[in-house]
Amino acid sequence: MKTIRFEHRVTADDTLRWQDNRLYLLDQRVLPADERFVECTDVQATAEAITAMVVRGAPAIGIAAAYGIVLAARERYAQSPTGWRTGIEQDLATLAASRPTAVNLFWAIARFREAIADLPDGDPEAKLLELAQAIHDADRADNRRMGAFGASLIEGPTAVITHCNTGGLATGGWGTALGVIRSAFAEGRVTHVYADETRPWLQGARLTAWELQRDDIPVQLIVDGAAAARMAAGGVSWAIVGADRIAANGDVANKIGTYGLAVAARHHGVRFMVAAPTSTIDLATATGADIPIEQREAGEVLRCGGQRVASDGVDAWNPVFDVTPASLVDAIVTERGIIEKPDAAAISMHLGRGD
Ligand code: MRU
Repeated sequence: MKTIRFEHRVTADDTLRWQDNRLYLLDQRVLPADERFVECTDVQATAEAITAMVVRGAPAIGIAAAYGIVLAARERYAQSPTGWRTGIEQDLATLAASRPTAVNLFWAIARFREAIADLPDGDPEAKLLELAQAIHDADRADNRRMGAFGASLIEGPTAVITHCNTGGLATGGWGTALGVIRSAFAEGRVTHVYADETRPWLQGARLTAWELQRDDIPVQLIVDGAAAARMAAGGVSWAIVGADRIAANGDVANKIGTYGLAVAARHHGVRFMVAAPTSTIDLATATGADIPIEQREAGEVLRCGGQRVASDGVDAWNPVFDVTPASLVDAIVTERGIIEKPDAAAISMHLGRGD
């Protein structure tokens, strides 16, 4: 992967940059220690960057794929102005294989497949770039709306707990769960954030704490195992997380550890909010049991900070997402509003498909 540095001070708004007809991805594997970008000039590099976690977070993965399809179309059209629509199918399959759980990836691919079918003959790049940028811009705007809806649920002032990273680094900007926290902080409803460190990739420690610190929002890191004790200690009234896929019945797949957080929250009377755009809701997936859960290599758990921590020969189980049953979720917040006590009927109604 080709990495480069820009001169300016990097922020979470730099997550995905389309510049000089190529895609630059802020390399999230090395933040906050280093602020460098991975350059993607073709779809292969984009798919590899998604798999390698250069870019991560459900909406950001969908947006990266969108720009990757623009790069694919450019190359396929140059090779064959008449056969590019057939050739690009292979590229869509490459992107679809990059990570399995976040449905935003498949949602973006489906939108492009439709757009490609409707395009007139001729060079498709400009039109497809317009679509990628529209998806990117809409995600930012949706997150602001979601932030306002989510904040309205929080009767502050209170501390909240969050898990993984759901901010500008995981989206087109502002964030989903972190967007709610940002909006609620601006309104004085949230005064303090406990961020789970989120083993093994440490998205909480490396990314969420970095984003909140830059916004001057008081944040304290806790190890994942401290969340229940933190709730028992009092002062926390909401746990707020994002989602990688929400099934038709309201079950939520999100970063491993979310399920345990929801169980602990219910036990302690802490309310549990999931903030995610409607592109994360997958009506084609009936329940959480049907959501494909990504398993990554054991080495991610066996090492910490590049150092092996378990003795040689020890193996690890490394599912990187888990499923929280809808019954443990108090509210799902989308850009369209709030779904309290989510179930199949409430979700269908929210999407305008109710009876
Ligand atoms: O493995 P990751 O870092 O891509 O997982 C990210 C998460 O689980 C987030 O909580 C989720 O994508 C929502 S991001 C707005």
